[in-house]
Amino acid sequence: MSENISVLGLGLMGAALAESLLAAGHRVTVWNRTPSKADPLVAKGATVAATPAEAVEAGELVIVCVLDYPAVRQVLEGASLTGRVIVNLTSGRPSEAGAMASWVAEHGADYLDGGIMAVPQMIAKPGALILYSASQTAFDRYERTLAVMAEARFVGTDPGMAALLDLAMLTGMYGQIAGCLEAAALVTSAKYPLKQFTASLLVPWLNAMAALQVHWAEAIEAGDHATQVSNLEVNRAGMETLVAAFREQGVKPDLLLPLKAVIDRRTARGLGHEGLSGLVEEL
Ligand SMILES: NC(=O)c1ccc[n+]([C@@H]2O[C@H](COP(=O)([O-])OP(=O)(O)OC[C@H]3O[C@@H](n4cnc5c(N)ncnc54)[C@H](OP(=O)(O)O)[C@@H]3O)[C@@H](O)[C@H]2O)c1
Repeated sequence: MSENISVLGLGLMGAALAESLLAAGHRVTVWNRTPSKADPLVAKGATVAATPAEAVEAGELVIVCVLDYPAVRQVLEGASLTGRVIVNLTSGRPSEAGAMASWVAEHGADYLDGGIMAVPQMIAKPGALILYSASQTAFDRYERTLAVMAEARFVGTDPGMAALLDLAMLTGMYGQIAGCLEAAALVTSAKYPLKQFTASLLVPWLNAMAALQVHWAEAIEAGDHATQVSNLEVNRAGMETLVAAFREQGVKPDLLLPLKAVIDRRTARGLGHEGLSGLVEEL
């Protein structure tokens, strides 16, 4: 079924979202602070609005994807939101999502907050995921429409939950990136071909190790950090070896040191018999 949808914010991500909705046959109205960014979408059948208020007027479903929450507020201020469903796909903090949900409700609209787990090139392709939280009613009503952009997953009625899980997933990603960059520095210090190392050794190893995360999640939820895998004392000694080896190779272990510090702190408290999952208690 074709819907009237408005997309406010046509940066790299907003433009990709609008394009996917147009391709699915929806009637899409677009607005962007810099109007010229609407031109390629107008060529594909979008209607351009002169103001945010005009765009909100045109769509029952209003998708906002701008830089940050203060920009969302600037864009929506002054528009009549009554009866609309506002879907905010701008990245932010859980507290900002909560405040935005209240503000939108005060203006008579239903609210969904979203966390986009994709880059623009992935939109409308397999593998793209958007997390949603806040109004279950709005999600149930528009789930099929939202699924055009990416797999749509509702994670709860707490408005901040999508933002929190988005940040948690990014945190896991940055941890992996940190480890891979340290590994790259070590491997290149020995003049070993980095691409070969990465493709044939590192990536298969990371995939095999990823399965352990679910085991650790169970241990953390149960508060039971007994281990049959490797205890903290073994990991503490392993970290000492790593850091010393980096220094011998002339490579700074800067991205590893914060992890080493938490392992050292936990073992110094006499908990070296536990598994790595116990580190979460230190955080
Ligand atoms: N790109 C990604 O891979 C990705 C992935 C996940 C989530 N996100 C999130 O998606 C959001 C947009 O990202 P993007 O990649 O599309 O960024 P972008 O290409 O830099 O676009 C930023 C957009 O925000 C608008 N904007 C900034 N300040 C504004 C203001 N004060 N008032 C009105 N509009 C304003 C810009 O308008 P102008 O065109 O006029 O400058 C532009 O439309 C961000 O929250 C980002 O974290 C992006």
